[in-house]
Amino acid sequence: MNGTFESARPADAAGRATSRRPIGVFDSGVGGLSILRELRRELPKEEFVYFSDGGHAPYGERADAFVAERSRAITRRLLDEHRIKALVVACNTATTAALHLLRAEHGQLPFVGVEPALKPAASATRTGRIAVFATRGTLASARFRALHDAMRGPAEFVLQPCDGLAAAIENDREAEIRDLCGRYARLAGEFGSAPGRIDTVVLGCTHYPFAMRVLQDVLGPDVRIVETGEPVARQARRLLDVHGISNGEGAARVTFLTSGPERTLREAAQRWLGL
Ligand code: DGL
Repeated sequence: MNGTFESARPADAAGRATSRRPIGVFDSGVGGLSILRELRRELPKEEFVYFSDGGHAPYGERADAFVAERSRAITRRLLDEHRIKALVVACNTATTAALHLLRAEHGQLPFVGVEPALKPAASATRTGRIAVFATRGTLASARFRALHDAMRGPAEFVLQPCDGLAAAIENDREAEIRDLCGRYARLAGEFGSAPGRIDTVVLGCTHYPFAMRVLQDVLGPDVRIVETGEPVARQARRLLDVHGISNGEGAARVTFLTSGPERTLREAAQRWLGL
């Protein structure tokens, strides 16, 4: 697996079969690497172009219009310069703010979005109490509200916005990560497997899996933490198959692009993906 860093790349040679083209993946920053990690496992013969919008991160505390505009610009760039065959929006906040617009604008392009895994959490909980850690933008969105409304029933969801946590993870500020995880856990309530406690936590932001160790430490060993990387990767595989554009013979490769500091993305890719 190669990893290369570029700030721009010329268009692929015309005529490359769709199945041989790369899959685009983007996030506000390095969080989408938690999705890319699973995509590479599930689709080892596919080529990926990862775009980190680190120059405009975090998205979670921004207006929807801003996130939608960035998502549209990134999608156009990945299409124009890299001729992507599919796009994974590896960001919950961008999925809620922009996926419907991207689909409307690029009807031919297969898209995969990410959203907090409420359903798997509802199946996993024993106490019936689940916390959802996500950005303010995701939790306030109409898309999340619809998902939440559809899941109301025996399980109770405690919605906890985690301002600043994605930024702390983006910049690898360990003490702040620990501090914020502790603070948001306290705000959400009491955790554990005893009746009435929260026994399941949904990570509704793709940055948060990179704080998994700290979170598990803070929440205790009895708490199950649910993330979305694996189901998203499986969904991407299904989508490629349905469209008949899987690459059966490619060599795995990731091209990394960023609008922010190259070093942040490079170090995160090394730390978390071994690239
Ligand atoms: N990683 C993103 C998400 O899944 C956004 C984090 C942020 O930029 O605030 O929501």
